[in-house]
Amino acid sequence: MVEELIEAGLKPHDRVLEIGCGCGRIAGPLLDRLTRGFYDGLDVDSHAVAWCRENIQSLNPRFRFHHADVRNPFFNPKGSLSPLAHRLDGLEPKDFIVLILVFPHLPPHVVLHYLKELRALTRQTPNARVFISLLLFKSRTPELGAQEGFLPCRRDDGVFYFEQSHYVFAFNEAEFLRWCRSAGFEPAGPVKYLRHGPRLIDSEAIVLLR
Ligand SMILES: C[S@@+](CC[C@H](N)C(=O)[O-])C[C@H]1O[C@@H](n2cnc3c(N)ncnc32)[C@H](O)[C@@H]1O
Repeated sequence: MVEELIEAGLKPHDRVLEIGCGCGRIAGPLLDRLTRGFYDGLDVDSHAVAWCRENIQSLNPRFRFHHADVRNPFFNPKGSLSPLAHRLDGLEPKDFIVLILVFPHLPPHVVLHYLKELRALTRQTPNARVFISLLLFKSRTPELGAQEGFLPCRRDDGVFYFEQSHYVFAFNEAEFLRWCRSAGFEPAGPVKYLRHGPRLIDSEAIVLLR
């Protein structure tokens, strides 16, 4: 995935923000790549953040990790802050923002909230890019979704799919791009599918926004 970030334009001197950094799967390899820049990782899982501080931040103080006590039914069910109250506009300017497999764990109205917050943050930096990986589909029948444990849910004119036990969401590609545009973003190229498996859970795609 780090190669994908570099292909998407990540530079050694960038100021990077990773939302949903987890256990540092991206931050670890970036230690060798982000040689002059700064990295801030943010997550709602306090154990993951503690691990990253101990094992990554300790190696390089230009890498910092922050806990946001934002509620997520799967990752932080007792979080004190609603995701809709989670603001990003107070953060320092960033050149490259990364969200890898975070939107698959957020419902559509929360995804829209974060897209708007991201837009407010990137307005400060003319060439800022937002690299998002998520589960997308182009077309789906409810029967196929049901076979995988995903329920079709209606929102406005579109359908998204929801798997309850792991709190996973998959969105229609065209609809997700509409949400991005409504937040003020323009996709910086076509959607790239990383895997082409027929299952929703295998349909990880990259969307690069600016
Ligand atoms: C599937 S994991 C992916 C972790 C990491 N990006 C990776 O690819 O290894 C989803 C991550 O998103 C985090 N997360 C969920 N809701 C979040 C939110 N509102 N803000 C920041 N992180 C969130 C979870 O705690 C979890 O670490």
